[in-house]
Parts: sequence; C-alpha cells; structure tokens
Amino acid sequence: MTDIMPESAPFPAIVTGSGDLAAYLAASKARIDEALAESGAVLFGGFDVPTAEEFDTAVEAYGEPNFTYAESLSNAVRVNVTDRIFTANEAPPSTSIYLHHEMAQTPIYPSKLFFYCEIAPEKGGATPLCRSDILLEQLRKKEPQLVARFAEAGVRYTNTMPAEDDPGSGQGRSWRSTLSVDEKSGAEQRLSALGYDWQWQEDESLRVTTPVLDAVRAMPDGRRSFFNQLIAAFRGWSDTRNTASKSIAFGDGTLITPADMETAIRLSDELSYDLEWQAGEVALVDNFLVMHGRRPFEGKRRVLASLIQ
Ligand code: FE2
Repeated sequence: MTDIMPESAPFPAIVTGSGDLAAYLAASKARIDEALAESGAVLFGGFDVPTAEEFDTAVEAYGEPNFTYAESLSNAVRVNVTDRIFTANEAPPSTSIYLHHEMAQTPIYPSKLFFYCEIAPEKGGATPLCRSDILLEQLRKKEPQLVARFAEAGVRYTNTMPAEDDPGSGQGRSWRSTLSVDEKSGAEQRLSALGYDWQWQEDESLRVTTPVLDAVRAMPDGRRSFFNQLIAAFRGWSDTRNTASKSIAFGDGTLITPADMETAIRLSDELSYDLEWQAGEVALVDNFLVMHGRRPFEGKRRVLASLIQ
C-alpha cells in the first residue's frame, strides 16, 4: 500500500490510491467515515480490485455488519454473488432506475451502501448521486408548505408484487421472495406484523400499502434529508402491474400529485452528479444523506452492491 492522500472534492469525496483496498479501508476507517459524514459519498479509485472476491474482502475489512438482501423488503430482483455482495438490479439496460434512498419505501433500510464496478458499460450506465439534504433545503425555500406537509404527514407507498420474480421490471421481486415466505398465510402474517395493508389480486399477485413512513429524516448533526422513495416511485414504478402516479400518497391517504413532485424532481436532476464508472472503482454512499440511481446503458455492465445495517 502506498501513502494515500484523499483529494478534497466537494461531492463525492475522491480517494486515489493503489494496491490493496481492504488494507486501506481497515487502516483508514476513521478518516473515511469523516469524509463520508461530510460529503455523503466517497469514491475509491486506482486500487487493485479486479473481481467480486476482492470487493467482498474490502467490504469485510471495513468492518460493519451486513444488511442482507434476503431479509430486506427491497422490490428489486437481485442475485447474490457472495454472502455480502449482490447484483445491483437485474432490470433491463434500457430501464432508468430513478434517484432513491435504498429501501426508504420500507420500514427496514441500510445505513450505507458499497458499490463496485466489475465491468464498466460501453455507453451510459452512470450511477447518479444526489445530496438529499441540499435537495430538501432548496425545496423548502421554494415550497415550504409542501415540505412541512411531507415532514408532518409522512408518506405511504402502494405497489403490486408478482407471485414469481419478474426480472423484466425494476420492481419485479415476487411477494414470496420479498417477504421470505412460501404461502399466502405467511405473507399475511408478515405484512400484518409490519403494519401494511394488502389485497390479493386475481392473478395471485399482491397489492400492498405501507404503513406511514417518514419522508424527511433528521440527522444527529441537525441536517435534514429528503429520505424517501418518492422520486423513484413517481417516475419509475410502472410495469404491467403498477401505475407510478398512483403509487405514492401522503400519510392521510391523499395522492401525491405531479404538481407536488415537479420541483423536487427538477432540483434532484440539477443536483445530480453522474458517477461514470471505471472498472475496479468502489464507492461508499451514506444512505441517509445521498440518493442514488442508475442511468440506462448499452453493452455489458456489471456493478455490484453491498449493504450495511
Ligand atoms: Fe438502489
């Protein structure tokens, strides 16, 4: 390992090094966490991370507990590569994954995410990153009443899960897999414990509505972020079972309208930084401060992810 000096960059913070990333993460964790708290995302370039195995070792060396995909209520179809590492989303290359905080549409979410680019795409395929605290502050200046309503009323999400995985959709994970159950009765028990409403559909798919979840999150240092899944749901939750515009409501059940979402979407696009991947790069993202997504791409692209509790 060579001596590594992080270059200060507003967003994301960039660390350029060489050699063993696992050794660097283990030795420099305090400094990395400081940069992460400040910036919300840290990109590690130049290190020797040729395959998923080295990525797994690096995540392990960072030393925080794993958040498993199996236990999560994520809507995305994913494939585990190792215990800690999985494909970020199996949705087709032409599908945009819009900005979101990982699993903020469920009561159980990770605090941080690692991404790793094993194969860089030929065209497109960037990971947009957006500072959610800055977004919320700008939105509050333009629409104070709307932000107050989000903060006070919270939000509820509605989506329909298929009986079997549908990899053609960004939200195609089956209810069996999502809820870790085999039978309808088990699904009902799990949903009831989590405070969801549900309705079985004729084709065995399952329409669920979450309990009221926070749309705004207060950080220990006083910053607040637009911690939710509203943009991704409103822009992207359309497939054969779902209509995106009907997927989000305020906590009292009133649908959130296109006019409500317009400014937040425009600001998030303006604030986005496109992380254009080089093979071997690793990024660490604070899930409470920064939203992420996926641009459409052409050719082969393999970006893997790992979540921290
Ligand atoms: Fe995600």
